[in-house]
Amino acid sequence: MKRIYMDNGATSFPKAPGVAEKVYEYLMHIGTNINRGAYADAFESENVVFETREQLCSLFGFEEPENVVFTKNVTESLNVLLKGLFKSGDHVIVSSMEHNAVMRPLNRLESKGVTYSRTLCDSEGSLDLENFKNLIKPNTKGIVMTHASNVCGTILNLEEVGKICKERKLLFIVDTAQTAGAIKVDFKTLNADAIAFTGHKSLLGPQGIGGFMVKEQLASKIETLIEGGTGSLSDTEYQPEYMPDKFEAGTLNVPGIFGLNAALKYLEETGIEAIFQKEMQLTELFLEKLLNMEHIDVIGKKSAEGRTSVVSLDFKNADNGEIAHRLANEYGIMTRSGMHCAPSAHRTLGTFPRGTVRFGLGHFLEENDILYAADCIYKIKE
Ligand SMILES: Cc1ncc(COP(=O)(O)O)c(C=O)c1O
Repeated sequence: MKRIYMDNGATSFPKAPGVAEKVYEYLMHIGTNINRGAYADAFESENVVFETREQLCSLFGFEEPENVVFTKNVTESLNVLLKGLFKSGDHVIVSSMEHNAVMRPLNRLESKGVTYSRTLCDSEGSLDLENFKNLIKPNTKGIVMTHASNVCGTILNLEEVGKICKERKLLFIVDTAQTAGAIKVDFKTLNADAIAFTGHKSLLGPQGIGGFMVKEQLASKIETLIEGGTGSLSDTEYQPEYMPDKFEAGTLNVPGIFGLNAALKYLEETGIEAIFQKEMQLTELFLEKLLNMEHIDVIGKKSAEGRTSVVSLDFKNADNGEIAHRLANEYGIMTRSGMHCAPSAHRTLGTFPRGTVRFGLGHFLEENDILYAADCIYKIKE
């Protein structure tokens, strides 16, 4: 049976060429920590870690490599940013398309006196900017939004949100889990104050490495979530206040950073635009085939415009979980069914509590894979 991986919305596979080799090289031939040893191999690790901060700056149009912080994923990054910034009495605005990586920390903060409002997106997952503006209150401190829906792929118009944040002097934090590496994400164009990313989705790196980048003036205002050894200022028992050490307590995932370094090199050489074009070409072909099928609904946008390559389907007269199971067992097609950690997005799209079958197309797939998947989706109605 064929084996076709279409769960790139959850995590990408395969990883970029060179990633596995770079992790192997580190584990077999380098293996040293950073900030802790004064020998050549320790400097080798330090150089790669710093180079990776610079690669991330170049990818996100950010200019302060020391303000690129490594964490284990975007969830941890969002926890650090949200819990470090918002305090009792603050009001926050999110969209109705958020992942639980935003909603769960916010609901925790709600029990500590932070309030939030959800701007309702339309049935395709797009933002309504008027509705958003009407939610701004005198105590609104910040906006936290996903750049694209992990359920249906709709890209949120965050450039406009960023402009409003700038005008109203609101903090703007962007969750780029679904866009980093898939479309151009530019810190300045978004008018962002902080961007959170995860290494294992479209950045094509390994699991367990992610991070955030934050403007210097904001970094100094964020309280730390964890404190501990940094290998720096070891004569004091207080957490350093300077970046990135302030937020990098404990030993970093250095093998993960080496892997991410190779992935970022691949993205730079290939170009985000070329990856985007390929993914959109596959998405367009997939949608064209799907829109002719009466036993399914395509959720969210029906064309390749304004979206990523995540496509969600509702099988009208069947259980979506069972369909995902059949696609895997009978046809070797790997997808994800259910709520995708975003119940509010499903409420917005009208798929709560049925959920959807989500296909995450990656640029390593070929047209034949898309035609095969469409054919299997057609056959599965019987
Ligand atoms: C929009 C969005 N935000 C956050 C996350 C969480 O990513 P991670 O598990 O890498 O922290 C995901 C991934 O599922 C996502 O799609």
